[in-house]
Amino acid sequence: MEHPALKPTASSVSSPAPGSAVDAPLRLVQVHRDDAELTRQELIDGLAAAQATTSPKFLYDALGSRLFEAITELPEYYPTRTEAAILSANALAIAQAIGEVGTLVDLGAGNCAKALRLIPSLRPARYVAVDISVGFLEQALTDVQHRHPTLSVTGVGLDFSSALALPPDMVQGRPVFFYPGSSIGNFTPEQAELFLASVRRQSIGGGLLIGVDLIKGVEWLEPAYDDALGVTAAFNLNLLRHLNRLIGSDFDPRDWRHVAFFNPEASRIEMHLEARRALRVRWPEGERRFEAGERLHTENSYKYSVERFAALLQSAGFARTRCWVDAQGWFAVFWAQA
Ligand code: AVJ
Repeated sequence: MEHPALKPTASSVSSPAPGSAVDAPLRLVQVHRDDAELTRQELIDGLAAAQATTSPKFLYDALGSRLFEAITELPEYYPTRTEAAILSANALAIAQAIGEVGTLVDLGAGNCAKALRLIPSLRPARYVAVDISVGFLEQALTDVQHRHPTLSVTGVGLDFSSALALPPDMVQGRPVFFYPGSSIGNFTPEQAELFLASVRRQSIGGGLLIGVDLIKGVEWLEPAYDDALGVTAAFNLNLLRHLNRLIGSDFDPRDWRHVAFFNPEASRIEMHLEARRALRVRWPEGERRFEAGERLHTENSYKYSVERFAALLQSAGFARTRCWVDAQGWFAVFWAQA
């Protein structure tokens, strides 16, 4: 029979009883300068280029973030659940490999669901959730704080797609960065190395726990980005409405088709929006013609082998790396010591 003292206590996951110490105040900080003019110019330059391109960060307005959450529940979209299974099956080994955690820095925290599952085994003193919009973090962090009243919780609104620069006072004690979901796949391998090197410099003494999607047959890769219900198509097409709000353009989503395929030379999934007919898109002070079949490139999602990603971590300056993979070899979680 289990000794009562060995049972997990509920105290760390329930709200404080009336009259007990109140929750530590939740800190919310917006770091990223919301330079609308710079964003506008970046978008217009991308649209006017010979190969029209937009950064994948523009997929995530309020509706886009909700559509992405829906994607993670689709049967075809294996990364989220495979990563969750790896993290839960190896929770103890991962916690042992990582050791003491002063600050857990969650990159692209979103709804914080992944960190919530890690916190009980990692037991960090501080939790810093970083996402492009602090507004989207607020509700999730209120929930985290409620479940973990003694945890110091901070939300940072920061666009780290070009550079990761956290306010230095935010990371105290041994830093452990968490970058799940294979979001590293949005960077080219060259950009990924630079990004990882900057994470390493900011996590010295600690390290990085990162999820990476692995190369597999196109019969599995492509449906994950072109699902039967059309949720990924809606996610991709929603970008056009976001663009219309950002630059005042007149994209009509009905004129565009979702296209997703694996490019084996580049080892990446590419997402595009393809014009269904010849058309013209206008915005204040500019326009762009698209031929029928011409595409707007909206996202790359790079896929790695375990060996290639381990080498990338080494090049970025990380010392020792460990990795856990699911039985099918579809997804990897790396712990890299900084
Ligand atoms: C959030 C970048 C990891 O590449 O799988 C999902 C985004 N795009 N379906 C990915 C995405 C289309 C996702 N990441």
